[in-house]
Amino acid sequence: MSSAVGARRKTGPVARTVAQAKVNLFLRVLAREASGYHQLETLFCRLDLGDAVVVRTGVRGRSLDCSGDAMPSQGIGPVERNLAWRAAEAYAGATGWPNDWAIEIEKRIPVGGGLGGGSADAGAVLRCLNALAPEPLPEAAMLLLAAPLGSDVPFLVTESALALAWGRGERLLKLPALPVRDVTLVAFPFGVVTRDAYTWLDDAGRGTRPDAVAFSTDDLSAWSGVARMAHNDFEPVVTAHIPSIATTLGVLRSAITAGGDPNAIALLAGSGATVFLLGADLPRGEVRVDGVTSRTVHARTADRVVAVEVSD
Ligand code: C5P
Repeated sequence: MSSAVGARRKTGPVARTVAQAKVNLFLRVLAREASGYHQLETLFCRLDLGDAVVVRTGVRGRSLDCSGDAMPSQGIGPVERNLAWRAAEAYAGATGWPNDWAIEIEKRIPVGGGLGGGSADAGAVLRCLNALAPEPLPEAAMLLLAAPLGSDVPFLVTESALALAWGRGERLLKLPALPVRDVTLVAFPFGVVTRDAYTWLDDAGRGTRPDAVAFSTDDLSAWSGVARMAHNDFEPVVTAHIPSIATTLGVLRSAITAGGDPNAIALLAGSGATVFLLGADLPRGEVRVDGVTSRTVHARTADRVVAVEVSD
């Protein structure tokens, strides 16, 4: 499936990378701003699972083509609302370059799942354009371009595999990557709309848990410390609205009890619907709970960001 605007000529310099997904190893939702947006405190971790992104400049016209196993059945919607497209527009608007582009995305990250797929694509497009640009932007300027595109995009435009983030995700503290671990993702046949999840939190009058503890970054230098901090403020409201997610998290937590790893983690990914498990095993294939069949996807946490490769 593809969407395109303008005539296309696929020549010119090309940049490729992998738009890696993320999970939040903890996620606290703080104050709601007058704008309606919420302040966050979160620990982002990239995964090795990612969409393949190719960006060409020196073409005629602007285009975006999406394909891949994780394409939503209804397609990607209007191209101008796609985050990857908006990222290219933001870059062109800020720097005056490029006029035209051809973006190709092979979707592999489950869509609407809280894994940051659309945001990862936007981050990858910004990184690809910057690698091709006659005058590349410094990282601080890239973060400014990324922030209005969404709270996950600033982290996903950096070269960091692990980072704390505050504000709307634009205030970042990069951390040394943790040792790679296997992750099992349970991808539901439906997503959660991020805006809905924030509304559910507001309606429930819930912010972060009152016993949220201060931490030092030393706590985040080993999986044992991260496992102690693992938490997601969205979990109570999302599971209350979608009981099959609660039941599935129960399955994951039983696997942890059976496995006995004290550093195991089972959490909702972002605002859902995907849940993930580190440090315990789930059978490959499908999980069936409450009449809902979900797909398990086996991935790993990442200890590096896949570089952008440029060729002519
Ligand atoms: O960041 P993203 O564009 O995915 O956000 C979708 C919606 O979620 C926003 O329009 C807003 O309603 C809500 N949101 C929020 N606070 C944030 C991020 C998102 O209220 N920090």
